[in-house]
Amino acid sequence: MIPEAVISDIKHAIDIVQVVSETVQIKKTGSNFAGLCPFHSEKTPSFTVSPIKQIYYCFGCGAGGSVFNFVMKRDGLTFPEAVRTLGGRCGIEVPERSMTPEEKESVGKREKIFLANRLASDFFSGILKGETGVHALAYLRNRGISQETIDHFGLGYAPDSWDSVSRCLSSHRVPVEIAVGSGLLIAKETGRFYDRFRHRIVFPIVDTAMQVSGFGGRVMDDALPKYLNSPETPVYHKARSLYGLHVAREGIRQSKTAFVVEGYFDVLALFQSGITQVAATLGTALTRDHVRLLSRCGAERFILVFDSDEAGIRAALRSVPVFQKEYMTAKVLVLPKGHDPDSFVRESGADAFLAMADKAMDLLEFLMDASIRRHGLSVEGRLKILGDMKEPFLALEDRVARSLYIRVLAEKVGIDEGAVHEKIHQRSGPGPLPRGDIPQPPVRQLPVGNSLELQIVSNLVRYAGIHPYCREVRVTEYFEEPGFKEIGSLALAYDGPPEAMTDWLLMNLREEGQRELVARLAIDEFPVIHQRCVALVDQYVRNKNRLGDDLTKRIRDAEIRGDHELWLVLMKEKQAFIADLKKRQDHAKKVKHKSGVSGGKTI
Ligand code: CTP
Ligand code: MN
Repeated sequence: MIPEAVISDIKHAIDIVQVVSETVQIKKTGSNFAGLCPFHSEKTPSFTVSPIKQIYYCFGCGAGGSVFNFVMKRDGLTFPEAVRTLGGRCGIEVPERSMTPEEKESVGKREKIFLANRLASDFFSGILKGETGVHALAYLRNRGISQETIDHFGLGYAPDSWDSVSRCLSSHRVPVEIAVGSGLLIAKETGRFYDRFRHRIVFPIVDTAMQVSGFGGRVMDDALPKYLNSPETPVYHKARSLYGLHVAREGIRQSKTAFVVEGYFDVLALFQSGITQVAATLGTALTRDHVRLLSRCGAERFILVFDSDEAGIRAALRSVPVFQKEYMTAKVLVLPKGHDPDSFVRESGADAFLAMADKAMDLLEFLMDASIRRHGLSVEGRLKILGDMKEPFLALEDRVARSLYIRVLAEKVGIDEGAVHEKIHQRSGPGPLPRGDIPQPPVRQLPVGNSLELQIVSNLVRYAGIHPYCREVRVTEYFEEPGFKEIGSLALAYDGPPEAMTDWLLMNLREEGQRELVARLAIDEFPVIHQRCVALVDQYVRNKNRLGDDLTKRIRDAEIRGDHELWLVLMKEKQAFIADLKKRQDHAKKVKHKSGVSGGKTI
């Protein structure tokens, strides 16, 4: 484990507001800051940062915790990795510590793969600059790629050889299993290895932490496959990676817009024309994670760029559920026939491209128009259009939005709105529910337990002044909700300075959900009033004790029915209950006198 003193030093040297504001635009609201959550897409700020408590909490998705938890979640790091990263920023060295073997292995493996990728990337770009790379460079130049773009994206060339990457990695003492694990080498059955990328232009795929996570490679002739990508590895997942994002980040933040294209060269050509807010999916459909990544960079508008209507329709259909609530921010731009973004922008320039983007249609409207073009407005055609739109409409979670779109469609096809509504919501026989009607897992909600317990936990987390009283009446022992019980008893076990309690709780709770709950409760600025809190605890304990009455009633029943065995069991239960109750009440009285119930005292 990393020594607590080091963690605490780092925590004191780092300001969560500073760290958060590097990725999220936050504005002061009262004593907290608020902004758009980087962990889910939203239009109104529910992401809250408390400079006083040095915690964050999102009221939209429930993410929350300390500055370490924030960095863990944002960059996909483990706790020790996050501590190291933040330690590095403030010049506090984190001593090596013993990790669990699995932890060591997984962290070590990821780091080593990133290192191998970096070495290979440098190797490829070195080759492109040298004699062996002359043809590759000519190819890039021929496609209009400038030296500046080559440098910016770190483009390279993998030589026409079976073992040059392999030799490069082994000269840097990269273990074979790492080289194979990175996807750079492929293992043969004979136990030997060969380079995956050979005689190809190489595009390093760089993540937002500027680490090389994978590669794409293109042939320079008509050989197949035209493109080759890294396989899935511990650091590369194509469903979570976008090509060019590291370069696009700044442009996305400034313009709040992200263009999503399909090809490597599309990113390069647009970048070169001055349009930098562009990233490409890597031979895969757009996923929710892609959208999240882009939102995290500050994208509020998404423009999906497609080469052709057919490809656009297919991809647009698939991306409706991906956008869920953000559907209205997604637009579709279909380029003139025969063009992709690369060829279009080279031929017509950035202004023409941006002018088209301005007129891009929103996702659902694009689908409606495509369907209308396809089926025409005959009676039969209209029915088919309604059939086409059923699924995308139902994929919209927001029912108000759905009915607004239904109105648009009704107008477009000239059918009464009510009838369109009915048709869209008509169940097509038994079978799975239409996607939009499947209840989505709610954003993490507070455990619906006893609301009194929740209120008490909330007080315990925010106000150490109530701890002595709660310890005496042993309130948490009555708790039924296990999560509340754990947080509550942990809070009562705390005996440090009040202002460090939240930190301590966040450090000592293993489960993310529990940390999030603590962050949520702790970030509440509403003051705790001592007297009110005592009253709350009393009320709760009294309610609990009233359960004894129920026991009395059951004893009487057993007596009447002549069930002696049960009667005996219940009587014993009651004796224990009374003894316990008396103990608690005595405690309660003693404490009340002692603390004198100071009124109106807040944190
Ligand atoms: N792609 C891929 N594997 C392939 C073909 C394509 O992963 N075998 C992905 C690549 O990310 C590629 C994108 O799909 O950039 C689009 O492919 P395509 O339209 O065929 O190529 P372009 O990007 O137009 O490439 P170029 O301009 O170099 O021909
Ligand atoms: Mn192309």
